[in-house]
Amino acid sequence: DKGAYPFYMLKEIDEQPAVMRKLVQEYFGDHDDPQIDENLIKAMADADHIYIVGAGTSYHAALVGARIFERLCGIPTTVHISSEFAYEQPLLSKKPFFIFLSQSGETADSRQVLVNVNAHKWPSLTITNVDKSTLSREATFTELLYAGPEIAVASTKAYTAQIAVEAILAKALGEYLGKDAAKKFDVKHQLGLVANGMQSITDSKKEIEEVAARYLSKPRNAFYIGRGLDWSVSLEAALKLKEISYVQAEGFASGELKHGTIALIEKGTPVLGIITQDRTAGLTRSNLDETRARGANTITIVSRHLSQEDDTIILPDVDECLTPLLSVVPAQLLAYYTSLGKGLDVDKPRNLAKSVTVQ
Ligand code: M6R
Repeated sequence: DKGAYPFYMLKEIDEQPAVMRKLVQEYFGDHDDPQIDENLIKAMADADHIYIVGAGTSYHAALVGARIFERLCGIPTTVHISSEFAYEQPLLSKKPFFIFLSQSGETADSRQVLVNVNAHKWPSLTITNVDKSTLSREATFTELLYAGPEIAVASTKAYTAQIAVEAILAKALGEYLGKDAAKKFDVKHQLGLVANGMQSITDSKKEIEEVAARYLSKPRNAFYIGRGLDWSVSLEAALKLKEISYVQAEGFASGELKHGTIALIEKGTPVLGIITQDRTAGLTRSNLDETRARGANTITIVSRHLSQEDDTIILPDVDECLTPLLSVVPAQLLAYYTSLGKGLDVDKPRNLAKSVTVQ
Protein backbone atom coordinates (compact mmCIF):
# COMPACT_ATOMS: atom_id res chain seq x y z
CA ASP A 1 0.00 0.00 0.00
CA LYS A 2 1.50 3.35 -0.95
CA GLY A 3 -0.39 5.27 1.73
CA ALA A 4 -0.23 9.02 1.13
CA TYR A 5 2.43 8.65 -1.56
CA PRO A 6 1.45 9.35 -5.18
CA PHE A 7 3.86 6.65 -6.41
CA TYR A 8 5.62 3.65 -4.91
CA MET A 9 8.97 4.92 -6.17
CA LEU A 10 8.88 7.93 -3.85
CA LYS A 11 7.84 5.76 -0.91
CA GLU A 12 10.67 3.35 -1.66
CA ILE A 13 13.22 6.17 -1.93
CA ASP A 14 12.03 7.44 1.46
CA GLU A 15 12.29 3.97 3.00
CA GLN A 16 16.04 3.77 2.43
CA PRO A 17 17.15 5.10 5.84
CA ALA A 18 14.91 2.49 7.52
CA VAL A 19 16.34 -0.26 5.28
CA MET A 20 19.89 0.70 6.33
CA ARG A 21 18.88 0.47 10.00
CA LYS A 22 17.12 -2.84 9.41
CA LEU A 23 20.27 -4.26 7.79
CA VAL A 24 22.36 -3.24 10.80
CA GLN A 25 19.84 -4.93 13.07
CA GLU A 26 19.66 -8.13 10.95
CA TYR A 27 23.39 -8.51 10.31
CA PHE A 28 24.80 -7.26 13.63
CA GLY A 29 22.14 -7.58 16.33
CA ASP A 30 23.94 -6.60 19.55
CA HIS A 31 27.37 -7.48 18.14
CA ASP A 32 30.08 -5.14 16.86
CA ASP A 33 30.99 -7.45 14.00
CA PRO A 34 28.73 -8.83 11.27
CA GLN A 35 27.16 -12.19 12.07
CA ILE A 36 27.58 -14.12 8.82
CA ASP A 37 27.50 -17.88 8.19
CA GLU A 38 31.08 -19.05 8.79
CA ASN A 39 30.88 -21.56 5.93
CA LEU A 40 30.14 -18.71 3.55
CA ILE A 41 33.11 -16.68 4.75
CA LYS A 42 35.39 -19.72 4.50
CA ALA A 43 34.22 -20.49 0.97
CA MET A 44 34.90 -16.89 -0.08
CA ALA A 45 38.27 -16.80 1.69
CA ASP A 46 39.24 -19.91 -0.25
CA ALA A 47 38.65 -18.19 -3.60
CA ASP A 48 41.37 -16.57 -5.70
CA HIS A 49 38.87 -14.38 -7.56
CA ILE A 50 35.34 -13.15 -6.95
CA TYR A 51 32.96 -12.75 -9.87
CA ILE A 52 29.85 -10.66 -9.32
CA VAL A 53 27.03 -11.11 -11.79
CA GLY A 54 23.85 -9.07 -12.28
CA ALA A 55 21.63 -7.16 -14.70
CA GLY A 56 20.52 -3.52 -14.81
CA THR A 57 20.60 -1.85 -11.43
CA SER A 58 21.95 -5.02 -9.81
CA TYR A 59 24.90 -4.89 -12.22
CA HIS A 60 25.51 -1.32 -11.12
CA ALA A 61 25.43 -2.31 -7.45
CA ALA A 62 27.93 -5.04 -8.33
CA LEU A 63 30.33 -2.45 -9.77
CA VAL A 64 30.37 -0.64 -6.43
CA GLY A 65 30.64 -3.89 -4.46
CA ALA A 66 33.65 -5.06 -6.46
CA ARG A 67 35.64 -1.98 -5.48
CA ILE A 68 34.71 -2.52 -1.82
CA PHE A 69 35.76 -6.21 -1.91
CA GLU A 70 39.07 -5.30 -3.49
CA ARG A 71 39.76 -2.47 -1.04
CA LEU A 72 38.81 -4.40 2.10
CA CYS A 73 39.68 -8.00 1.23
CA GLY A 74 42.46 -7.76 -1.35
CA ILE A 75 40.78 -10.38 -3.57
CA PRO A 76 40.57 -9.52 -7.28
CA THR A 77 36.90 -8.98 -8.06
CA THR A 78 35.34 -8.54 -11.47
CA VAL A 79 31.79 -7.72 -12.48
CA HIS A 80 29.82 -9.14 -15.36
CA ILE A 81 26.52 -8.41 -17.04
CA SER A 82 24.64 -11.68 -16.72
CA SER A 83 23.27 -11.82 -20.28
CA GLU A 84 26.83 -11.53 -21.62
CA PHE A 85 28.49 -13.85 -19.14
CA ALA A 86 25.97 -16.62 -19.80
CA TYR A 87 27.06 -17.12 -23.41
CA GLU A 88 30.49 -15.49 -23.66
CA GLN A 89 32.18 -16.70 -20.51
CA PRO A 90 35.70 -15.29 -20.10
CA LEU A 91 38.61 -17.43 -18.95
CA LEU A 92 38.17 -17.91 -15.23
CA SER A 93 40.63 -18.21 -12.35
CA LYS A 94 41.36 -21.59 -10.75
CA LYS A 95 39.21 -21.05 -7.67
CA PRO A 96 36.33 -18.76 -8.54
CA PHE A 97 33.55 -17.67 -6.19
CA PHE A 98 30.37 -16.24 -7.69
CA ILE A 99 28.05 -13.65 -6.23
CA PHE A 100 24.65 -13.19 -7.85
CA LEU A 101 22.93 -9.89 -7.19
CA SER A 102 19.22 -9.85 -7.95
CA GLN A 103 16.43 -7.95 -6.28
CA SER A 104 13.78 -10.40 -7.52
CA GLY A 105 15.92 -13.53 -7.55
CA GLU A 106 14.13 -14.45 -10.78
CA THR A 107 16.06 -12.71 -13.58
CA ALA A 108 16.43 -15.27 -16.36
CA ASP A 109 19.78 -13.93 -17.62
CA SER A 110 21.33 -14.27 -14.17
CA ARG A 111 19.76 -17.69 -13.64
CA GLN A 112 21.40 -18.94 -16.84
CA VAL A 113 24.81 -18.03 -15.41
CA LEU A 114 23.99 -19.83 -12.18
CA VAL A 115 23.01 -22.95 -14.14
CA ASN A 116 26.47 -22.87 -15.80
CA VAL A 117 28.19 -22.26 -12.44
CA ASN A 118 26.36 -25.15 -10.81
CA ALA A 119 27.28 -27.45 -13.68
CA HIS A 120 30.92 -26.84 -12.71
CA LYS A 121 30.13 -27.20 -8.99
CA TRP A 122 31.62 -23.76 -8.29
CA PRO A 123 30.53 -22.14 -5.00
CA SER A 124 28.09 -19.25 -5.17
CA LEU A 125 26.10 -16.77 -3.13
CA THR A 126 22.86 -15.10 -4.12
CA ILE A 127 22.07 -11.76 -2.51
CA THR A 128 18.38 -11.10 -3.06
CA ASN A 129 15.34 -9.38 -1.69
CA VAL A 130 13.10 -12.42 -2.14
CA ASP A 131 13.50 -15.35 0.18
CA LYS A 132 13.19 -18.74 -1.58
CA SER A 133 13.37 -17.13 -5.03
CA THR A 134 14.88 -19.26 -7.80
CA LEU A 135 18.37 -17.75 -7.59
CA SER A 136 18.33 -17.99 -3.82
CA ARG A 137 17.33 -21.68 -3.86
CA GLU A 138 19.83 -22.69 -6.50
CA ALA A 139 22.97 -21.00 -5.14
CA THR A 140 25.23 -22.57 -2.50
CA PHE A 141 24.58 -19.72 -0.06
CA THR A 142 22.03 -16.97 0.17
CA GLU A 143 21.77 -13.63 2.00
CA LEU A 144 18.80 -11.30 2.13
CA LEU A 145 18.44 -7.58 1.41
CA TYR A 146 15.67 -6.98 3.96
CA ALA A 147 14.45 -4.04 1.85
CA GLY A 148 10.78 -5.03 1.94
CA PRO A 149 8.78 -5.42 -1.29
CA GLU A 150 9.96 -3.16 -4.11
CA ILE A 151 6.97 -2.41 -6.32
CA ALA A 152 8.11 0.45 -8.59
CA VAL A 153 9.79 -0.84 -11.74
CA ALA A 154 12.71 1.50 -11.14
CA SER A 155 14.86 -0.09 -8.46
CA THR A 156 15.93 2.23 -5.63
CA LYS A 157 16.04 0.73 -2.15
CA ALA A 158 17.22 -2.63 -3.49
CA TYR A 159 20.29 -0.91 -5.02
CA THR A 160 21.32 0.72 -1.76
CA ALA A 161 20.55 -2.47 0.21
CA GLN A 162 22.72 -4.48 -2.22
CA ILE A 163 25.66 -2.14 -1.71
CA ALA A 164 25.20 -2.19 2.08
CA VAL A 165 25.12 -6.02 2.16
CA GLU A 166 28.22 -6.18 -0.06
CA ALA A 167 29.99 -3.81 2.36
CA ILE A 168 28.94 -5.89 5.38
CA LEU A 169 30.18 -9.07 3.68
CA ALA A 170 33.45 -7.42 2.65
CA LYS A 171 33.99 -6.32 6.24
CA ALA A 172 33.42 -9.87 7.53
CA LEU A 173 35.62 -11.46 4.88
CA GLY A 174 38.39 -8.86 5.19
CA GLU A 175 38.49 -9.28 8.97
CA TYR A 176 38.63 -13.06 8.57
CA LEU A 177 41.59 -12.59 6.21
CA GLY A 178 43.27 -10.26 8.74
CA LYS A 179 43.23 -7.23 6.44
CA ASP A 180 43.95 -3.88 8.11
CA ALA A 181 41.62 -1.97 5.80
CA ALA A 182 38.73 -4.19 6.92
CA LYS A 183 39.62 -3.89 10.61
CA LYS A 184 39.56 -0.10 10.33
CA PHE A 185 36.24 -0.03 8.46
CA ASP A 186 33.51 0.38 11.07
CA VAL A 187 30.67 -0.57 8.77
CA LYS A 188 28.07 -0.74 11.56
CA HIS A 189 28.74 2.84 12.63
CA GLN A 190 29.05 4.01 9.03
CA LEU A 191 25.68 2.55 8.03
CA GLY A 192 24.14 4.54 10.88
CA LEU A 193 25.71 7.70 9.44
CA VAL A 194 24.46 6.68 5.98
CA ALA A 195 20.90 6.27 7.30
CA ASN A 196 20.98 9.76 8.82
CA GLY A 197 22.56 11.18 5.66
CA MET A 198 19.89 9.62 3.45
CA GLN A 199 17.26 11.10 5.71
CA SER A 200 18.68 14.60 5.36
CA ILE A 201 18.74 14.23 1.55
CA THR A 202 15.15 12.98 1.34
CA ASP A 203 14.20 15.88 3.62
CA SER A 204 15.39 18.33 0.95
CA LYS A 205 13.06 17.13 -1.81
CA LYS A 206 11.89 20.67 -2.65
CA GLU A 207 15.38 21.80 -3.70
CA ILE A 208 15.91 18.65 -5.74
CA GLU A 209 12.53 19.04 -7.43
CA GLU A 210 13.56 22.58 -8.43
CA VAL A 211 16.83 21.34 -9.94
CA ALA A 212 14.88 18.75 -11.96
CA ALA A 213 12.38 21.35 -13.20
CA ARG A 214 15.08 23.83 -14.12
CA TYR A 215 17.62 21.59 -15.85
CA LEU A 216 16.08 18.26 -16.79
CA SER A 217 12.49 18.88 -17.83
CA LYS A 218 13.21 20.04 -21.41
CA PRO A 219 16.45 18.51 -22.75
CA ARG A 220 16.28 15.21 -24.61
CA ASN A 221 19.66 14.09 -23.38
CA ALA A 222 21.89 14.40 -20.31
CA PHE A 223 25.15 13.14 -18.86
CA TYR A 224 26.17 11.98 -15.41
CA ILE A 225 29.93 11.95 -14.99
CA GLY A 226 32.36 10.84 -12.30
CA ARG A 227 35.47 8.79 -11.63
CA GLY A 228 35.87 5.50 -9.77
CA LEU A 229 32.90 4.85 -7.50
CA ASP A 230 31.36 8.10 -8.73
CA TRP A 231 31.44 6.70 -12.26
CA SER A 232 29.68 3.54 -11.08
CA VAL A 233 26.94 5.68 -9.51
CA SER A 234 26.77 7.75 -12.72
CA LEU A 235 25.71 4.61 -14.60
CA GLU A 236 22.91 3.94 -12.13
CA ALA A 237 21.87 7.61 -12.03
CA ALA A 238 21.64 7.69 -15.83
CA LEU A 239 19.62 4.45 -15.91
CA LYS A 240 17.09 5.95 -13.49
CA LEU A 241 16.66 9.03 -15.68
CA LYS A 242 16.31 6.98 -18.89
CA GLU A 243 13.98 4.42 -17.44
CA ILE A 244 11.30 6.64 -15.95
CA SER A 245 11.68 10.08 -17.55
CA TYR A 246 12.77 8.99 -21.04
CA VAL A 247 15.69 11.41 -21.11
CA GLN A 248 18.49 9.79 -23.06
CA ALA A 249 21.12 9.82 -20.37
CA GLU A 250 24.60 8.45 -20.28
CA GLY A 251 26.81 7.69 -17.29
CA PHE A 252 30.36 8.47 -18.24
CA ALA A 253 33.87 8.20 -16.84
CA SER A 254 34.58 11.92 -16.59
CA GLY A 255 38.12 11.66 -17.93
CA GLU A 256 36.94 9.77 -21.00
CA LEU A 257 34.49 12.44 -22.12
CA LYS A 258 37.14 14.51 -23.90
CA HIS A 259 38.11 11.47 -25.99
CA GLY A 260 35.09 11.82 -28.22
CA THR A 261 31.75 12.11 -26.48
CA ILE A 262 32.25 15.78 -25.58
CA ALA A 263 31.23 16.41 -29.19
CA LEU A 264 27.63 15.84 -28.06
CA ILE A 265 27.66 18.72 -25.59
CA GLU A 266 25.72 21.74 -26.81
CA LYS A 267 24.07 24.75 -25.26
CA GLY A 268 21.87 23.65 -22.38
CA THR A 269 22.96 19.97 -22.23
CA PRO A 270 22.73 19.00 -18.57
CA VAL A 271 25.97 17.49 -17.22
CA LEU A 272 25.71 16.23 -13.67
CA GLY A 273 29.01 15.67 -11.89
CA ILE A 274 29.23 13.29 -8.92
CA ILE A 275 32.16 14.22 -6.69
CA THR A 276 32.79 12.18 -3.53
CA GLN A 277 36.31 10.77 -3.91
CA ASP A 278 39.26 12.83 -2.58
CA ARG A 279 41.77 11.68 -5.18
CA THR A 280 39.68 12.59 -8.21
CA ALA A 281 37.49 15.49 -7.09
CA GLY A 282 39.65 18.16 -8.75
CA LEU A 283 39.87 16.18 -11.98
CA THR A 284 36.12 15.75 -12.30
CA ARG A 285 35.69 19.47 -11.60
CA SER A 286 38.05 20.25 -14.51
CA ASN A 287 36.08 17.88 -16.74
CA LEU A 288 32.86 19.65 -15.75
CA ASP A 289 34.50 23.01 -16.60
CA GLU A 290 35.37 21.64 -20.05
CA THR A 291 31.70 20.86 -20.70
CA ARG A 292 30.55 24.22 -19.32
CA ALA A 293 32.94 25.98 -21.71
CA ARG A 294 31.00 24.23 -24.51
CA GLY A 295 27.62 25.39 -23.29
CA ALA A 296 26.59 22.66 -20.83
CA ASN A 297 24.53 23.39 -17.75
CA THR A 298 26.60 21.79 -15.01
CA ILE A 299 25.04 20.43 -11.84
CA THR A 300 27.14 19.03 -8.98
CA ILE A 301 26.41 16.38 -6.36
CA VAL A 302 29.30 16.67 -3.89
CA SER A 303 30.40 15.35 -0.50
CA ARG A 304 30.41 18.14 2.04
CA HIS A 305 34.17 18.13 2.75
CA LEU A 306 34.86 18.54 -0.99
CA SER A 307 32.17 21.13 -1.62
CA GLN A 308 32.54 24.66 -2.93
CA GLU A 309 30.25 27.62 -2.74
CA ASP A 310 28.39 27.17 -6.01
CA ASP A 311 27.79 23.40 -5.77
CA THR A 312 24.22 22.28 -6.39
CA ILE A 313 23.57 19.36 -4.01
CA ILE A 314 25.70 18.70 -0.93
CA LEU A 315 25.95 15.22 0.60
CA PRO A 316 26.77 14.50 4.26
CA ASP A 317 30.24 12.95 4.70
CA VAL A 318 30.61 9.18 5.17
CA ASP A 319 33.43 6.67 4.55
CA GLU A 320 34.62 6.92 0.93
CA CYS A 321 33.59 3.31 0.21
CA LEU A 322 29.99 4.10 1.08
CA THR A 323 29.42 7.42 -0.68
CA PRO A 324 27.40 5.68 -3.46
CA LEU A 325 24.70 5.06 -0.83
CA LEU A 326 24.23 8.82 -0.56
CA SER A 327 25.10 10.17 -4.01
CA VAL A 328 22.51 7.93 -5.66
CA VAL A 329 19.62 9.35 -3.60
CA PRO A 330 19.48 12.82 -5.24
CA ALA A 331 19.83 11.06 -8.61
CA GLN A 332 16.81 8.87 -7.79
CA LEU A 333 14.87 11.97 -6.77
CA LEU A 334 15.93 13.91 -9.87
CA ALA A 335 14.66 11.07 -12.07
CA TYR A 336 11.46 10.87 -10.05
CA TYR A 337 10.66 14.59 -10.30
CA THR A 338 11.60 14.77 -13.98
CA SER A 339 9.18 11.93 -14.70
CA LEU A 340 6.50 13.44 -12.45
CA GLY A 341 6.91 16.86 -14.11
CA LYS A 342 6.29 15.27 -17.50
CA GLY A 343 3.13 13.64 -16.22
CA LEU A 344 4.46 10.11 -16.81
CA ASP A 345 3.53 6.95 -14.95
CA VAL A 346 6.55 6.89 -12.65
CA ASP A 347 5.99 3.38 -11.31
CA LYS A 348 5.22 1.71 -14.63
CA PRO A 349 7.43 3.10 -17.38
CA ARG A 350 6.65 2.03 -20.92
CA ASN A 351 8.09 -1.20 -22.35
CA LEU A 352 9.31 -2.48 -18.99
CA ALA A 353 8.48 -5.20 -16.47
CA LYS A 354 9.61 -5.35 -12.86
CA SER A 355 11.18 -8.73 -13.25
CA VAL A 356 12.66 -9.87 -16.56
CA THR A 357 12.07 -13.60 -16.82
CA VAL A 358 13.03 -14.03 -20.49
CA GLN A 359 16.57 -14.15 -21.88
O1 M6R B 1 15.55 -8.46 -10.00
P1 M6R B 1 16.88 -8.07 -10.55
O2 M6R B 1 17.69 -7.27 -9.60
O3 M6R B 1 17.67 -9.28 -11.03
O4 M6R B 1 16.56 -7.19 -11.81
C1 M6R B 1 17.58 -6.74 -12.66
C2 M6R B 1 17.11 -5.62 -13.58
O5 M6R B 1 16.10 -6.08 -14.43
C3 M6R B 1 16.60 -4.40 -12.80
O6 M6R B 1 17.57 -3.94 -11.90
C4 M6R B 1 16.23 -3.26 -13.75
O7 M6R B 1 17.38 -2.78 -14.39
C5 M6R B 1 15.52 -2.14 -12.98
N1 M6R B 1 14.27 -1.84 -13.61
C6 M6R B 1 16.31 -0.88 -12.90
O8 M6R B 1 15.66 0.13 -12.21
